[in-house]
Amino acid sequence: LASQAEKPKVYKGLEGIYVTETRLSYIDGLHSKLYYVGYPIEALAKNSTYEEVAFLLYFLRLPRKDELDLFKALMAEARELPEDVLNVVKKMVSLKAHPMDILRTAVSYLAAYDPEVGVNTPESNLRKSLRILSKAPSIIAAMYRFSRNLDYIPPRKDLSHVENFLYMLHDKRPTEFETKVMDTIFILHAEHGMNASAFASLVTISTLSDIYSAVVSGIATLKGPLHGGAAEAAYYQFKEIGSPDKVEEWVQKALASKRRIMGMGHRVYKSYDPRAKIMRELDGEIAKIYGGEPKLLYEIAIKLEEVALREFAEKGRMDIQPNIDYYTPIAYTALGIPPEYFTTIFTASRIVGWTAKAMEYLKDPRLIRPLDLYVGELDKEYVPIDKRG
Ligand code: CMC
Repeated sequence: LASQAEKPKVYKGLEGIYVTETRLSYIDGLHSKLYYVGYPIEALAKNSTYEEVAFLLYFLRLPRKDELDLFKALMAEARELPEDVLNVVKKMVSLKAHPMDILRTAVSYLAAYDPEVGVNTPESNLRKSLRILSKAPSIIAAMYRFSRNLDYIPPRKDLSHVENFLYMLHDKRPTEFETKVMDTIFILHAEHGMNASAFASLVTISTLSDIYSAVVSGIATLKGPLHGGAAEAAYYQFKEIGSPDKVEEWVQKALASKRRIMGMGHRVYKSYDPRAKIMRELDGEIAKIYGGEPKLLYEIAIKLEEVALREFAEKGRMDIQPNIDYYTPIAYTALGIPPEYFTTIFTASRIVGWTAKAMEYLKDPRLIRPLDLYVGELDKEYVPIDKRG
């Protein structure tokens, strides 16, 4: 065993470790910057659509009009779900499974219906990625409808990715504004460096497993409240506070009992998450247009941000700032999406990031196999079971 002096350094949480090179996204955590393939996130959120961003991440360039039309048609074509997958979703809904568990299981189950599941060529992996990406919203809409004893609404090919998703959820074509809000949410969640779920799916693909398995690993990891689950937790936090005038007291109590403010803090951003900034602005518009619960949530969020940042600053923690999950609950609520579904939407969007990363990694793969430092005893004597005290 290594002596104390020569003990290798353990990088707990793999903080500060680069595991691969990428052209997909770049986060400048000190200056509130995020880029996809070099394009600032603000420009994409303002001007682009989810399909265009997906194309960008898969092909590392923006599409021409004819290319985007074809890409959109291919995605629209792949939205249908096998009857059996719908039955699995229905069964899990009846068992009251969490939507993330249903989504993880349904994506895994879909693999059995993909004739190319065992084919590991770049072309096949792209086709499979597009299928998973296109079908995920159908799975989410199906569980939403079944859980409310409503009929499944089959997908439409003439609608955009997010328009169709909202249509399948609510059996109503969304307005232009609703479509814009959902497109923004999808664009902002599409890709984000080597976060925990991206790493989990990369570990899976590094064993030369398959794209479905990589996505399932990503979903399983995104579920946790320290990662994608933070938006749901932030929603309940706002509800627990109840009104803007309760914020002061709530923050004092929360920080005194070492509670974390959900939707704040980030491993990489030590400044304002640029995605949160975009969502905050959009939420301001939403609050004005919708009133009601979105407005109340928005007012609580704004007040909580003000008080929490003041408290953090007093402790010298100017690095703890709102992240994207802080401001999405307001938009989700306006779109009629209940909190237990928030992380599924993050997932539906992030599938593009996971699969683009997996395909990028497969161009020059290396088995991911780090080390753990053994700190127990060695050469212990084996004592037969009847002699153990
Ligand atoms: N509220 C209160 N204190 C906090 C918070 C917070 N949200 N975030 C960090 N801290 C403090 C805390 O005091 C902690 O000390 P301790 O270990 O004694 O509890 C210390 O800062 C850790 O700071 P750090 O080393 O900068 O944080 P980290 O890199 O280990 O954790 C984090 C990052 C996201 C897990 C954490 O900030 C957190 O738990 N935030 C709340 C959950 C959340 O919003 N997650 C969403 C992340 S962004 C979306 C995504 O990518 O999924």
